Amino acid sequence: MKGIILAGGAGSRLYPLTLVASKQLQPVYDKPMVYYPLTTLIEGGIRELCLISTPHDLPRFRQLLGDGSRFGLTIDYREQAKPAGIAQAFLIAESFIGNDNVALILGDNIFYGGDGFNKAFAEFNGGATIFGYHVNDPERYGVVEFNAASQAISIEEKPKSPKSNYAVPGLYIFDNEVVALTKAQQPSARGELEITDLNVSYLRWGKLRVQRLARGFAWLDAGTSSSLHEASAYVQTIEKRAGVKIGCPEEAAFRAGFLSLAQLSDLADQMPNCEYRAYLCDVVAEAKRLTIQK
Ligand code: TTP
Repeated sequence: MKGIILAGGAGSRLYPLTLVASKQLQPVYDKPMVYYPLTTLIEGGIRELCLISTPHDLPRFRQLLGDGSRFGLTIDYREQAKPAGIAQAFLIAESFIGNDNVALILGDNIFYGGDGFNKAFAEFNGGATIFGYHVNDPERYGVVEFNAASQAISIEEKPKSPKSNYAVPGLYIFDNEVVALTKAQQPSARGELEITDLNVSYLRWGKLRVQRLARGFAWLDAGTSSSLHEASAYVQTIEKRAGVKIGCPEEAAFRAGFLSLAQLSDLADQMPNCEYRAYLCDVVAEAKRLTIQK
């Protein structure tokens, strides 16, 4: 499966922060926002990635992530000239997707906890898989309605009167049909190629799986000043309490088997003296200790 990180958009709700750096490059506690969705895809075992952003911001992402080899990945870069909708990603990345299935994650979505996604990636066998997450303010999102048998029966984009509290988070898994489907799609009234329209098409075909995320799972989107601050506070709280990092792509790549212990150790050695390096050195030391014990 291929992976796309969609990290363009206007970021207008974060103005003036976004005057010089795009939303997905802003810090969420101790690392750039894009590290979190990147880590989610790595944890899902996805190794071939494409990052889409604006012509203005793309060079910064390249500077940050390079060709991906540092994380045992390949990362392609593609421009989205204008924010013409989330679904446009499948047209922009058509040659990257080729004949594969594809997972799309939004660059400002932060997920933490459980193995719901990893299972969904592993069990994916065609059609589309999306997720449902209970929120307080569903009207801000795509909203999915379930029947008594827990089957999804409708999905509506930003409804005024939501039919449930289940919002669709920004991680979607599609089979290769998605490219042709997007080509045939018309822009919505707001001029965007809507991801919700794609999901509705799969629902009508009976090929949409909506997996409800467990209560203990955290989904944060960091698109407003308040939610950015809350996301930072959440990450700091968990990291301090548990002594583990959320959204650390180097560690995730090591645990996924994309990097060897020696490679991880070299990476840490190349970093300046900082908490991030100290953390990776601890990961290396612990892994060495466990290897010796074996
Ligand atoms: P939004 O938060 O809906 O939009 P935005 O990032 O442009 O922010 P604002 O509303 O404050 O102006 O987008 C969700 C995510 O999807 C975000 O990471 C940006 C990304 N996105 C694109 O990259 N291209 C697009 O065409 C759209 C609609 C979103």
